[in-house]
Amino acid sequence: MFRYVVITLVTISLFCIFGAEKISLCPAIIDRTQWGALKANKIQPLAENPAPIVVVHHTDTPSCFSTLSCTKRVKSIQHYHKSTKGWDDIGYNFLIDSEGTVYEGRGWGLAGAHARGWNYRSIGISLIGKFQENSPSASQLQALEALISCGVEKQNIAMNYSLIGHRQATKTLCPGDSLFNIVKNMSHFVANPE
Ligand SMILES: *[C@@H]1O[C@H](CO)[C@@H](O)[C@H](O)[C@H]1NC(C)=O
Ligand SMILES: *[C@@H]1O[C@H](CO)[C@@H](O)[C@H](O)[C@H]1NC(C)=O
Ligand SMILES: [Zn+2]
Repeated sequence: MFRYVVITLVTISLFCIFGAEKISLCPAIIDRTQWGALKANKIQPLAENPAPIVVVHHTDTPSCFSTLSCTKRVKSIQHYHKSTKGWDDIGYNFLIDSEGTVYEGRGWGLAGAHARGWNYRSIGISLIGKFQENSPSASQLQALEALISCGVEKQNIAMNYSLIGHRQATKTLCPGDSLFNIVKNMSHFVANPE
């Protein structure tokens, strides 16, 4: 009898410790300070927040496989967007490397420069690499799903968001044929975004 009481009490306490708080879906994110971002020239909030659209990109650069080399890659992308393209900051809201590590670009709630005409109502997530012929790694795709779920959980992405590839917003090959075929299979994908 005593044994059952103990088991019941242990079960109840474990539930209180682990069951009460919903486990967060958010992946760890390397923030701007951690990757050594330059300051943005200007910051503008999204016009629609939570964002109703998620736009998937590839960076169209070589892939990278460690936080050290990917930090360099993310910095060089920011430099290219600011200095060569003349944008206020790195264009994307987030970037994801081949090991599934997420890097904060402009972050949540802010307008990016990644999909002309859609920047004020979308979150732009770019997978680091070139995905015309090659596919992203499983970890990279899992991180993409996790980041989107996290955005929904934190109310930065609308629950009924539409998922699109960059090529649906403007004339571009981005995110590459191979990644676009995967995006087309993901939940919330819409063929004709509004
Ligand atoms: C998503 O939900 C919002 C608020 O309920 C609604 O206004 C909007 O039309 C919905 N969007 C889609 C794409 O269904
Ligand atoms: C898309 O999903 C279908 C059905 O599950 C599968 O056969 C196909 O291989 C998937 N395509 C890609 C590119 O993942
Ligand atoms: Zn793109």
